[in-house]
Amino acid sequence: MDLLKKIQSRDAVVGVIGLGYVGLPLLAAFHRAGFSVLGFDVDPTKIDALRSGQNYLKHLGATLASDMVRAGRFDVTTDFARLKEPDAILICVPTPLGKHLEPDLSYVSRTADDIARALRVGQLVVLESTTYPRTTRDIVLPRLSATGLVCGRDYFLAFSPERENPGSREFNTVNIPKLVGGIDEPSTTTAVALYSQAIEKVIPVSSAEVAEAAKLLENIYRAVNIALVNEMKVVLDAMDIDVWEVIDAARTKPFGFQAFYPGPGLGGHCIPIDPYYLTWKAREYGVPTRFIELAGEINHRMPQYVIDKLSRALNSRGQSVHGAKVLVMGLAYKPDVDDVRESPSFELIEKLDDLGARVDYNDPHVPATHRMRKYGDLGMKSVPLSPESIASYDAVLIATNHKVYDWQMVADHAKLIIDTRGATRKVIGRRDHIVMA
Ligand SMILES: NC(=O)c1ccc[n+]([C@@H]2O[C@H](COP(=O)([O-])OP(=O)(O)OC[C@H]3O[C@@H](n4cnc5c(N)ncnc54)[C@H](O)[C@@H]3O)[C@@H](O)[C@H]2O)c1
Repeated sequence: MDLLKKIQSRDAVVGVIGLGYVGLPLLAAFHRAGFSVLGFDVDPTKIDALRSGQNYLKHLGATLASDMVRAGRFDVTTDFARLKEPDAILICVPTPLGKHLEPDLSYVSRTADDIARALRVGQLVVLESTTYPRTTRDIVLPRLSATGLVCGRDYFLAFSPERENPGSREFNTVNIPKLVGGIDEPSTTTAVALYSQAIEKVIPVSSAEVAEAAKLLENIYRAVNIALVNEMKVVLDAMDIDVWEVIDAARTKPFGFQAFYPGPGLGGHCIPIDPYYLTWKAREYGVPTRFIELAGEINHRMPQYVIDKLSRALNSRGQSVHGAKVLVMGLAYKPDVDDVRESPSFELIEKLDDLGARVDYNDPHVPATHRMRKYGDLGMKSVPLSPESIASYDAVLIATNHKVYDWQMVADHAKLIIDTRGATRKVIGRRDHIVMA
């Protein structure tokens, strides 16, 4: 049976490489649509967990893996020789930055090599990892074509950016519109046919490069706008004007304005990283990316701004950061998730530690720290929250606005609060111990 027919009858086997925040929900979406799925990951602990019906990404629901195991049509493996089994292979491996903020495409190229070793006639390969324009054509295509098989005739290759928003109740893999751009027209048609089976709205674009660049534009748009409000925060603070109230006021305009909010710095796998993929690639063309780099510079300055505010607030009480007991509330980079990747909380903790503060953290979603690429393992455990424990700290630094936090309780008992998220705006009673930062 040819590939298009297999896709339309949902007889095609869908393989996903990289079963993380992006790959696992994608695998589940195709499984729910009735396809047989085969997941690949280099991490055997993830494969063992999924095989025994355990889901390690809590926000996706406790029964995600056990439901698939029970339904059948589900397998996961670390054996990449099995890449010849799926009819469609979706690549969701990491695309981090190297030490010098250069793109690290080693995961993508290694995966392309893995696929090339197993590639057969009638397979569709789609790269979903966020990356700079031409990656699909320059990194993946040559490796697959070296097999002698011809793209657009023997196999198909496309780029389709993941737009996952972990923790969102409104948007998920199935209802977020999906862009698809192929290396050639047959590849676009085949990839659109596949995604249309599992995803509500699929939007074809004219090339893989358009799809790659669109994803970067989306994330750079956010990075730049976050930098803008972070700059506004600093300016308005000097003028003693509440930036949060200003944003609320501005957003009453029904057109031409979208609200972004300031914070202690950028976090997550995307916004702090993706813009640098474009700035790096632009250098090859001799084109400056001053706007993007300026946004990065402003956002990177935020943790130090917060520490300066904390240090001045302690100083005005005759205290120093050195020796102060500080509680950081929120380790995850955004509310109501357990994802700590690139979270500014780590930089805040590191800076406080360097200054000699005694730092604890609380995060109901992150009971203990674990090894991270940049910070190693801090060996910290989330401390319990109570009126007494809050009162025992010289300062409470609000880094993440988790819904479960009772800000009135915190405000009623803390000696000093440094609020980077506008979390305490609605608390009633005394406010002279709250510093917005
Ligand atoms: N997390 C998000 O919200 C999000 C949103 C949009 C796009 N993205 C992009 O999606 C891609 C994946 O991100 P993620 O958040 O899912 O990362 P992740 O770290 O959660 O998952 C990646 C998975 O790939 C596995 N892996 C690493 N190397 C591998 C290899 N060579 N072969 C097979 N598996 C391998 C890892 O073990 C891990 O399970 C990145 O390019 C990211 O920028 C992420």
